[in-house]
Amino acid sequence: MGGTPRPPAAQVQTEERHHSRPDIVGPDSPEAPYPIRLAGAIQKGFGRGGKDLGCPTANLPDKSITALSSAVKTGVYYGYAQVIPPEAQDFPQEDRQVLPMVMSLGWNPFYKNKCLTAEVHVMHEFKNDFYGIEVKVVVLGYIRPELDFISREALIEDIEMDKRVALKSLDRPEYRKYLDDPHFVSE
Ligand SMILES: Cc1cc2nc3c(=O)[nH]c(=O)nc-3n(C[C@H](O)[C@H](O)[C@H](O)COP(=O)(O)O)c2cc1C
Repeated sequence: MGGTPRPPAAQVQTEERHHSRPDIVGPDSPEAPYPIRLAGAIQKGFGRGGKDLGCPTANLPDKSITALSSAVKTGVYYGYAQVIPPEAQDFPQEDRQVLPMVMSLGWNPFYKNKCLTAEVHVMHEFKNDFYGIEVKVVVLGYIRPELDFISREALIEDIEMDKRVALKSLDRPEYRKYLDDPHFVSE
């Protein structure tokens, strides 16, 4: 295939595996290679996240994808993110906080994407769209491998579970410390 990287085959999620997922993941304190700190201007994705899945995602630029994929395998991760608007822009204070996030690094087997993406879903209702705006991310742990799904509903169920797992896993003292990480901008 002329050296073009091809997405690896992904395992299909089953109902048993979905129901046996743990609700807290990772050790009580982040271990190497975490924390992984990333920053970049948000790119436009295919726009399916918000519309199809009720889960809008901010796509990270290629530079971040390269840095990430050299440190970790594809899959779903958790941590914190902060959206940093240019000063002139009217962006409410609550949208500029450090917020919990889930991130998918992968080939999106369910949608059969042809290239690797890193998409961050920040767990917060934003008032504005933020394409082109800088986002800072601190990745603190791994949740699960990237999977294929028999239906859009099954993918949504796992993403909802990812959000619960991320919130619970971040709600530990050694993880909460990263809310004040120097990577983030304080007011
Ligand atoms: C927490 C999270 C977990 C995800 N897990 C998977 C997965 O296991 N398999 C998959 O095909 N896509 C997964 N996705 C990616 C969605 O398919 C993707 O966000 C959707 O295609 C929207 O992409 P777009 O913003 O480029 O349109 C996940 C996304 C998020 C935010």
